[in-house]
Amino acid sequence: MKVLISNKNKFLIKGDRDFHSKDGMIKKEDLQNLHGKEDFSKDKVETNTGVEYSILEPEFLDLYERIKRGAQIISLKDVGAILTETGVGKDSNVLDAGVGSGALSIYLAHFCKSVTAYELREDFAKIARGNIEKVDVKNIKVEVRNIYEGIDEINLDLITLDLREPWKAVKHCAKALRRGGFLVGYTPQITQALDLVNAALEEGFILVKVKETAEREWKLSGQIAKPITPLISHTGFLTFLRRV
Ligand SMILES: C[S@@+](CC[C@H](N)C(=O)[O-])C[C@H]1O[C@@H](n2cnc3c(N)ncnc32)[C@H](O)[C@@H]1O
Repeated sequence: MKVLISNKNKFLIKGDRDFHSKDGMIKKEDLQNLHGKEDFSKDKVETNTGVEYSILEPEFLDLYERIKRGAQIISLKDVGAILTETGVGKDSNVLDAGVGSGALSIYLAHFCKSVTAYELREDFAKIARGNIEKVDVKNIKVEVRNIYEGIDEINLDLITLDLREPWKAVKHCAKALRRGGFLVGYTPQITQALDLVNAALEEGFILVKVKETAEREWKLSGQIAKPITPLISHTGFLTFLRRV
């Protein structure tokens, strides 16, 4: 696999056939010649219409962007908030439920020491495992099980809950988290966040904050500077709780 990247587009290619895009065509032979060289980062190639592409080795993000979506995946702006608001890192052990397509689990595994991932449905677990293989992260263990029935892991640094009734898992999370560890709920509805907070306060958690994140992408070209997307704010409510 190689990444073909220009100022406007990015493709992940095998280089085993002619490449076609709106920018024109690159012959298979041209791609294969480039593949034969050692330092791909310096390689460039032009389409038949003169658009220049650079060739790079695929990195984590290039592979992550190709994951198959079964259940709705978490947005990157929200992944960023979870990482920054909890401060997890290379020594952290994390539990993520439900796994869905595995997007959040994969990102957490990229930053943390280990991720245990609970998923109720076999079909979603299968999609998640396929995605984990695609991105080539080794430190995730996917288990088909219901988090409302209990958690085997202990001393966890973080538990993330992206499922409909997160409050039903709170008692188990209180036992599985280390003192100071974080519980994060990701819910589309504020009423779900409210139920989660109330259940967690009863279990002795501290409420750190509830928030949404907003994002707007801009186009900068010559003297042009304008937003190219509306302000995307509501994807989900993030509830940050801490076991004390
Ligand atoms: C919205 S998806 C999660 C998406 C995931 N965070 C991602 O970024 O790809 C919610 C998942 O939770 C799973 N789920 C629902 N209830 C569950 C439970 N009690 N235990 C484990 N998984 C559960 C669902 O089957 C579904 O796959």
